[in-house]
Amino acid sequence: MKNFLNIRSAGMKKNAIRAMCDKAKKIPGSINLGIGEPDLNTPVEVIEAGCKALHSGKTRYTANAGIIELRIEIAKHLNKYNLSANPENEIIVTMGGMGALALCLLVTITPGDEILLQDPQWLNYFSQIKFCGGMPILVPVYEENEFKVSSESIKKRITNRTKILMLNSPNNPTGTVLDYNDLKDIAKLAKEYDLLVVSDEVYSTFVYDGVKHHSIASIDGMQERTIVINSFSKSFAMTGWRIGFASGNKKIIEKMAMLQENLVACVNASSQYAAIKALSIFNKTDKMIEVYRKKRNLIVDGLNSIRGISCYKPKGSFYVFPNVKKIGNNSETVANELLEKANVVTIPGSAFGPHGEGYLRISYANSEENLREAVKRIKKHIENLA
Ligand SMILES: Cc1ncc(COP(=O)(O)O)c(C=O)c1O
Repeated sequence: MKNFLNIRSAGMKKNAIRAMCDKAKKIPGSINLGIGEPDLNTPVEVIEAGCKALHSGKTRYTANAGIIELRIEIAKHLNKYNLSANPENEIIVTMGGMGALALCLLVTITPGDEILLQDPQWLNYFSQIKFCGGMPILVPVYEENEFKVSSESIKKRITNRTKILMLNSPNNPTGTVLDYNDLKDIAKLAKEYDLLVVSDEVYSTFVYDGVKHHSIASIDGMQERTIVINSFSKSFAMTGWRIGFASGNKKIIEKMAMLQENLVACVNASSQYAAIKALSIFNKTDKMIEVYRKKRNLIVDGLNSIRGISCYKPKGSFYVFPNVKKIGNNSETVANELLEKANVVTIPGSAFGPHGEGYLRISYANSEENLREAVKRIKKHIENLA
């Protein structure tokens, strides 16, 4: 029999996060700090809104770009970040942030285009870009610079084939938040070199210590050259509902809606009605953020109390990216040993790109009890090594 797989799928590999979590399933009693998912349940009023929608007959296909009632609420939500988008043609409801990213990259990348993204970066960008025939061009970020992607290092990598700059603030895996001035410098470059910016803001709610989330699209002249990606997954603990959205350049959003029609028709109706409810209780997320801030402090202080580990305290998302170079040069070996000997799941930093080597990604979206126990286990394991 022929090999029916095409060349694009041949390059796809199992995601390192999934691979680690699969390994962990075989080890009973392990604490999973690998998965990037809120440990909370979806707010009860959101669940009720989803159920009510189903019971009242909202069981059919919806508009390809999503129900207009939700797009209107998303437009109001975007206003909070100084973004204005027309719900008719500048907003699309998608299958999570991932669905938004996939549609956006599929309608914009022409094989051979160069796409700039930071290193280390969330794994899925790389595979989505490759699948579309794009060339991922890595822009390294460094701990000494709080893992911030700088406009100078972006500039060095721009060529006449560069089409898109991917940004992700607050960041996965480092937790770094870009401030307004960082974004202004990057925006200047994007305008000068005529780049499209894909700004993944799925962790926009997760900012701490008085830091504010800013979107690059809110900067003068950026709205039309930016696609903002966001999601209900993290902010409302709705990962399984598969709902997110994108906003920005009308021409691109309209093509994304056409492609969504051809691929999956629309996002399931009940999730869309639940999402309207979620946006209506957005002010309640403040309490949740306070809980995450405490967890961040707990894990950062805990890790910094372990000899051989140093952990930068990030201002956003729910990940920390501790430096483990003094424990071992190979982060995959360190993570495997932590799993096998300390029963704690972490993700090797090298999975996120060459400049992630020497670090681990740890998600603190877990109970305080588990975080304390995990720190204890890691400490014990490392003391035993010494
Ligand atoms: C940076 C980033 N973007 C996008 C997503 C996609 O999330 P979802 O598709 O659940 O909205 C994730 C999920 O982990 C993420 O970490």
